[in-house]
This record gives sequence, structure tokens and C-alpha cells, in this order.
Amino acid sequence: MEEIKVVLYGVGAVGSLIAKFLLEKSGVRIVGAIDVARDKVGRDLGEVLGAVKKLGVIISDDVDAVFSKTKPDIAIHTTSSYLAETYSQIASIIKHGVNVISTCEELSYPYYSEPDLAKKLDGLAKKHDVSVLGTGINPGFLMDTLVITLTAACQRIERIEAVRVMNAATRRLPFQKKIGAGLTMEEFRQKIDMGEITGHVGLEQSIAMIADAIAWRLDKIEAEPAEPVIAKKPVKSDFIKVEAGKVAGLRQRAKGVMRNREVIVLDFQAYIGANEEYDAITIEGVPTIKQKIQPCIHGDVGTVAMVVNAIPKVLNAPAGLLTMKDLPVPSAALEDMRKYLKA
Ligand SMILES: NC(=O)c1ccc[n+]([C@@H]2O[C@H](COP(=O)([O-])OP(=O)(O)OC[C@H]3O[C@@H](n4cnc5c(N)ncnc54)[C@H](OP(=O)(O)O)[C@@H]3O)[C@@H](O)[C@H]2O)c1
Repeated sequence: MEEIKVVLYGVGAVGSLIAKFLLEKSGVRIVGAIDVARDKVGRDLGEVLGAVKKLGVIISDDVDAVFSKTKPDIAIHTTSSYLAETYSQIASIIKHGVNVISTCEELSYPYYSEPDLAKKLDGLAKKHDVSVLGTGINPGFLMDTLVITLTAACQRIERIEAVRVMNAATRRLPFQKKIGAGLTMEEFRQKIDMGEITGHVGLEQSIAMIADAIAWRLDKIEAEPAEPVIAKKPVKSDFIKVEAGKVAGLRQRAKGVMRNREVIVLDFQAYIGANEEYDAITIEGVPTIKQKIQPCIHGDVGTVAMVVNAIPKVLNAPAGLLTMKDLPVPSAALEDMRKYLKA
């Protein structure tokens, strides 16, 4: 069987990490790469990734030309978080009869914020006989798919809570900036108002996916505004020094409310100096389940794994728009990627 042919649509931070991981794997080959960044277009992918040798894949901004020429099995799409922005990009892939996995957060459960676009994507995917999935570590796994999986051992559920605490010092500089590390309270508030700090995108989608899986009809899903976490003592990363009293990062809660009770609560915390890093899920019910992963799963590493491991599952899936809860139980694809394909 021929290798699985992949086109990368977006060669930013995450797209580059996915490319490097794909290069290590067998049974899969990168045949094309798309990006709009002026410092990347026209250059060899290997060179942009900092690899020793060129790969013979030139990064292009001509979407139709890349797909017509390379005829891949699947595109890995990593450009932006909002479906209103990514819809036309994803539609352009589907129209070439190519399956899609995207890290677009809203696509992880698009029925919540963009039901019309979700319906259109589903129709388009079915028309062209391809499957489309939004995934990543979060949304995509830690605060939704993993929670949903744990509910399978419950007879009754009263309340679900998932907490993610990460020490932002271990993350990339752009991430540390994105959470406001080093700012004063006033600067943080200004950046929130200007939309430069958005908090975590995807909390509402994760709540909606959990509720859908267990058929809870929520009255309301609400993400609270991101709040600054203030450093009590000086803390630092390799890039940023945070004085006591300044912003070390952020915390954001989101809740799903049913009959005036907060029945699903997600709590995302990312700040420099977090002493303990973990992902914790508590399901209060029969039985009550408490699960804690320590340290928390690294966002970039986990996202790359989620996306690449999903390739055979998406290729095996029926046509249409999928979410993680529609696929078989997630698992690693460690061997030659072709071994996981259905005959
Ligand atoms: N679900 C999850 O767990 C998860 C995890 C990680 C990341 N994500 C999401 O995945 C997305 C990618 O993350 P990232 O860190 O790689 O972002 P990034 O570093 O900004 O990379 C995005 C790349 O796509 C390019 N791009 C933007 N618009 C494009 C277009 N229309 N056509 C082709 N290329 C385009 C960008 O070019 P310019 O720089 O010129 O704009 C950039 O090179 C983000 O939305 C991020 O929030 C989700």
C-alpha cells in the first residue's frame, strides 16, 4: 500500500512540530505545505523546520495548486482558532476531496458557536466523501474526550469538574505573552479589552461536547472572563521576569448550568510559577471518580500526538463532520501508519 500522503495547511508553531513528528514516522509522507507568512512562502519545508536536509516540498500560498498537484489523502490544518476565519480554508480542502484534521478550537465542537457553518461543512464533506475533525490536546482531549470516557464507568452523575494547571515557564514565549505574563493589572485589563488576550479558546466547546455525549440539556454555557493570576513573590521563566504584584498568567472558568446548578465546571490556569502542574477530573456521582494526571500533559507535545494519532481514525471514518466523541476510542498510532487503516 502507498504511504499516506499529507499536506500541511499552516506551518506555524504547531504545524512545524507536527511536520517534524511526521518526518520521524513510517507509512506517511508530507507531499505539500501551505502558509501565507512571507518569510516561509517559496522556501523548502526542511529549511523552515531547521532540518539538516531539504525535503523537496516548497511552501506555497496557492491552495488549489498544492492540492491539485499533490492529491493528498489528508490535510493537517493549523492556522487559527475561530471557525468563521477557517471555514473557507477548510472548505477549500474538502472541495479537493481531501480529509481534514484541524487544530481550530471552535471546530472541536462547532455545533455550539457556529451551528450553521457546522451544518454546511458536514454537507460539503459528505458531498465530497471526506471526513473532517477538529482536535488537539485541549479542546480535543483533556477537558472533553477524557472526561466523556470516564463517565462510562458511572451509573449516576451529579457534577463534573475538570481543572488544568500549568506552569507557563515551561512553555514557548508566545504562549507566555498570550497569557499576559509580566504585565501590570492595568495592562492586562487593556489587552483583554482590545482582544489581545483572549483567555483559553474552546472551554465552551468542551462543555457542549460533554453535555451532548451524556445527553444533558444545559440551560446555559458560560465562559467567565479570563482573570489575571498575580505573583505573590517574584517569579521568572527563561524569557520573562515577573515582579511580585504583577501578572504571572491567567485563570479562566467556564460552566454549564442545568436547573440553576453548575453541573459542568472547567477551570483553566496557566501562569509562571505554578508549583504543581496537573490535569484533574472529578465526577461526583455513583461512583465518584477522581483522576489526576501529574504533571499536566504538555500542550504542544500532546496536541501533535492527538493530531497525528487521529490520522488513521479519520481516514477510516465515515464521511462528514466528526467530533472526537464520534470516533472510536482514541489511541496511539506507534507503528507504520498504514497498519491502522481498515482494509
Ligand atoms: N486544540 C488544541 O489543543 C490546540 C493546541 C495548539 C494550538 N491550537 C490552535 O492551532 C492554531 C495554530 O497554532 P500555532 O501555535 O501553530 O499558531 P501560529 O504559530 O500562529 O501558526 C499559524 C500559521 O498559519 C499561518 N496562516 C494564517 N492564516 C493562514 C491562511 N489563511 N492560510 C495559510 N496559512 C495561514 C500563519 O501565518 P502568519 O503568521 O503570517 O499569520 C502561521 O504561519 C491556533 O489557532 C491555536 O490556537 C489548538
